[in-house]
Amino acid sequence: MIKISPSMLAADFGAFRQSADALVAGKADYLHFDVMDGRYVPNITFGPELLRALRPGMDAKFDTHLMILEPDRYIADFVAAGSYMITVHPEVCYHIHRVVHQIKETGAKAGLALNPGTPIEAIECLLPDIDRVLVMTVNPGFGGQKFIESTLPKITALRERARRDNLSFEIAVDGGISAANVARVAQAGADVFIAGSSVFAHPDGPAAGIAAIRAAAE
Ligand code: DX5
Ligand code: ZN
Repeated sequence: MIKISPSMLAADFGAFRQSADALVAGKADYLHFDVMDGRYVPNITFGPELLRALRPGMDAKFDTHLMILEPDRYIADFVAAGSYMITVHPEVCYHIHRVVHQIKETGAKAGLALNPGTPIEAIECLLPDIDRVLVMTVNPGFGGQKFIESTLPKITALRERARRDNLSFEIAVDGGISAANVARVAQAGADVFIAGSSVFAHPDGPAAGIAAIRAAAE
């Protein structure tokens, strides 16, 4: 069974709550929030106040992806705002072990993201400690980019590693995911699919976008 985490980055920011409600009605497994600071990545999105504002009356799991410098300074705020999981990039953490355990001590799940140019070795020591490896299948910063094919062997290597050592982390993929490529990405070993544009661009709305990805994967 795959999981789908639609990215709110592709939602209409003027109708954010309606978009989130549509995803929940469409049986999204998580809602993905792309937090960008204009420093680690060129784009700027939103902070914890937006998650906090959406939280009331919503039982979705908030999957927060921090593409910001010094993410350790904001973890507590994003958990207090209702995040179920926090994913950070190892490149921006001087002490990545400390940051992972800082996330876990709040009670949230911890994820580590690997950019297309970052090898598994960058997070090797932490694979037994984390709940998710997020394989970036585009370079972080923008929605609507093209899936980078050369990320597929990394997904397979992570799946083999998890199997060999009986590790329980999820393997999430993020960027350029659509019904057209989800089957082979699932085949490679991913089990959580983060998708923005392909979900929101579906002509019958985001719930149909989620259903199309699920159908193509299974
Ligand atoms: C990219 C973000 C992704 C992105 C996915 O920096 O981490 O979550 O929004 O969007 P699509 O599906 O449009 O590539
Ligand atoms: Zn993301």
